[in-house]
Amino acid sequence: MDASVDYFEINRLAWNLRTGVHKDSAFYDLNSFKQGKNSLNPLELEALGKVSGKKLLHLQCHFGQDTLSWARLGAKATGVDLSDEAITLARQLNEELGLEAEFICCNVYDLPQHLEGQFDIVFTSYGVIGWLPDMEKWAQVVAHFLKPGGTFFLAEFHPAIWMFDNHFTCVQYSYFNNGGPIIEESTGTYTDHDAPIHYTEYSWNHALSEVFTALLHQNLQLVDFQELPYSYYNCFANLEQGPDGFWRINGLEEKLPIMYSVKMVKPQP
Ligand SMILES: C[S@@+](CC[C@H](N)C(=O)[O-])C[C@H]1O[C@@H](n2cnc3c(N)ncnc32)[C@H](O)[C@@H]1O
Repeated sequence: MDASVDYFEINRLAWNLRTGVHKDSAFYDLNSFKQGKNSLNPLELEALGKVSGKKLLHLQCHFGQDTLSWARLGAKATGVDLSDEAITLARQLNEELGLEAEFICCNVYDLPQHLEGQFDIVFTSYGVIGWLPDMEKWAQVVAHFLKPGGTFFLAEFHPAIWMFDNHFTCVQYSYFNNGGPIIEESTGTYTDHDAPIHYTEYSWNHALSEVFTALLHQNLQLVDFQELPYSYYNCFANLEQGPDGFWRINGLEEKLPIMYSVKMVKPQP
């Protein structure tokens, strides 16, 4: 990695631009959300069960739809994100909807300097760890904020799919994190590929072994691990929606994992 490049600052600017497009997108469908639609998916809802009264920390919460959805289900939710535009919008939504979530704007790695206490649940999902260079440091943050007996849940896009070019026609990137980063000059965003925004972004592909090793080094215990051949979101090119409503890669249906989830607990001392 090049110490002279502020990867996080450049990614923050990119996510600010994206937030400006996402808030009005059909993808995030803010109107339905304001009217009560829950933005969470079966995977995380089933894994975490009843959250009412539980303290839940949501890492990389974007503009807070999922955090606020957990709050609507009764969790005492705190969302964290690097993008100031996203956190400003999350706080506005929280107020407009009369919820009691809290939002913190910071780099996930710096969170211990901005937040105190421990949580029953640490949750993070769909398009998150690829923005982080160091899984060991990330897992330390996760473990730091988990109460003994608490649950960590990650739902993420599978590192196998990040190996491909945008249309899934050829392998372009390594499965492994070779130190990186992957540097991309991008236009548009996953909610609107023609949106008039242009930015640089830095990302890292994390092999499953890298993710698991980092979490196991924090002595978290594995409860459940799933790999799924579909996405809940139409966020890549060349996906087709099945009768179940989920999205699969055209021509590669059922052949590649698109999402995975990890559930772990922090043992009691
Ligand atoms: C794909 S979005 C989150 C996905 C969420 N499931 C959603 O769609 O609302 C990724 C988020 O990670 C945030 N992010 C990227 N790097 C970060 C970092 N180092 N610390 C905290 N947040 C970060 C971005 O600002 C963005 O809001």
